[in-house]
Amino acid sequence: MSAEKTLILVKPDGVRRGLTGEVISRIESKGYSIEALRMLNADRALLEKHYAEHAGKPFYEPLVEFMMSGPIVAIVATGNRVIEGFRSLAGATDPTVAAPGTIRGDLARDQGTKVVQNIVHGSDSPESAAREISIFFPTN
Ligand code: RTP
Ligand code: MG
Repeated sequence: MSAEKTLILVKPDGVRRGLTGEVISRIESKGYSIEALRMLNADRALLEKHYAEHAGKPFYEPLVEFMMSGPIVAIVATGNRVIEGFRSLAGATDPTVAAPGTIRGDLARDQGTKVVQNIVHGSDSPESAAREISIFFPTN
């Protein structure tokens, strides 16, 4: 059985606050493997592909601007049920109510910004994971 893969991003708020290591540590401590990792400054074209499902939503433009505001770290993590498992580690989208013990619940809060800043992204389905991995790791 080949292990499932997911695309994880440490967003600009996480990198700026020096939380990249903490996020990687939580992924590894849970028992998932890091298969690929790169730091990059995402441009608009890349983010428009990544966030295509959110085009037209009120938070779309602030989200793209936020994601261009500094470097991000893209990670491919692997393991059985890693997509579901990392979403559980990340916690709810809104960090104010994300459960303590999760990345967002422990490390983020409402900063009063136009778009919620919540440290990490994780793919939400095998289809999204395949699509997103091909955007951030085109040669994989
Ligand atoms: P992600 O894709 O980043 O893992 O987060 P998610 O699945 O929990 O949330 P999603 O609905 O896919 O939204 C993507 C990102 O857009 C921002 N967002 N802001 N109402 C809002 O202000 C709002 N809704 C979504 C967040 O940064 C969210 O992670
Ligand atoms: Mg999402």
